[in-house]
Amino acid sequence: MLSKILGLFSSDMAIDLGTANTLVYVPKKGIVLNEPSVIALLQHRGVSTPYAFGTQAKMMLGKTPAEIYAFRPLKDGVIADFKGAEEMIKYFINVVHDRKFFFARPRIIVCVPSGSTAVERRAIQDAVESAGARDVYLIEEPMAAAIGANLPVTEPTGSMVVDIGGGTTEVGVLSLGGVVYSKSIRIGGDAIDDAIIAYIRRYHNLLIGEATAERIKKEIGTACLPDSTPRSIEIKGRDLVNGIPKEIVMTESNIAESLEEPVKQIVQVIKLVLESAPPELSSDIVDRGIAMTGGGALLRNLDKVIREATGLPVFIAEDPLACVAVGTGKVLENFEELKHVLFKQD
Ligand SMILES: Nc1ncnc2c1ncn2[C@@H]1O[C@H](COP(=O)(O)OP(=O)(O)OP(=O)(O)O)[C@@H](O)[C@H]1O
Ligand SMILES: [Mg+2]
Repeated sequence: MLSKILGLFSSDMAIDLGTANTLVYVPKKGIVLNEPSVIALLQHRGVSTPYAFGTQAKMMLGKTPAEIYAFRPLKDGVIADFKGAEEMIKYFINVVHDRKFFFARPRIIVCVPSGSTAVERRAIQDAVESAGARDVYLIEEPMAAAIGANLPVTEPTGSMVVDIGGGTTEVGVLSLGGVVYSKSIRIGGDAIDDAIIAYIRRYHNLLIGEATAERIKKEIGTACLPDSTPRSIEIKGRDLVNGIPKEIVMTESNIAESLEEPVKQIVQVIKLVLESAPPELSSDIVDRGIAMTGGGALLRNLDKVIREATGLPVFIAEDPLACVAVGTGKVLENFEELKHVLFKQD
């Protein structure tokens, strides 16, 4: 009863707690928060207190003095540091929440990777609960992504979605409001950044940081060799031989070469799901194609590589980085109609 009354004052929210970015959707308002999933702690005499969150904390990554510790509390789509994740969620909820009703406790839907274990799901549910939610529901990421991409998931027709996030790639075939078959691999934008770091280290003896790798990926990253004259980019890092900072120039073709392995794995998991999908749904997928969501969908030519590997129509959803949050938000807005796609972890 009390929780119902408190619920009246709260704004319910849908959270896409991603490895790279956290988005919060509030019914009738849309996305109200979009921040990197990063927290920085200030450590003083053995006590650590939150120091910065989101964008501000992301800028500190790899650049902090000894007493500040900036890190990403999620890895591969799941919580790697419980306390850090909880503090971060609490902060984001408070930013969004109407401060007039400080005692109000919202109903929250949060997404979990389809390949996560019961323990990992429980950790996400618990973190959101202890961050101040009244009632926490979970939704599988492929389902949320598909709803956000406007696929007809509740109809008796097969829809296929590939969500490439920072930590995971989730491939799902959905029909009649359920995930019929899905597969998740722990390869995503982070693995792509790591592949760039490893390549530059190996072939140029140059050590670069994660932020630089991500920038290179966004600027000239491509999933296959470009048709036109390859562009190039200047990269600064530390020479591994003499330890001195230096600058090199790399071309788009070099980057394409460095991304071969993660791209191959993404294509492989898509093929695996296609092979395992029931034949009736396969025929729907031939007609409707594959929707790509998540930030990784923006990697240049990745849609082309998947199209060529599968022979199917492939399209990038509108605003791929927001699909999971928008999909989760739509479930919250149409709670009675769509609540069967939600669950709780015991
Ligand atoms: N233009 C781009 N080209 C390539 N990659 C991009 C681009 N823009 C963003 N990304 C990558 O997308 C990833 C973030 O995507 P997204 O926000 O969907 O992940 P997430 O939901 O936080 O992670 P996950 O779903 O795995 O938990 C990052 O690795 C980022 O580098
Ligand atoms: Mg995601």
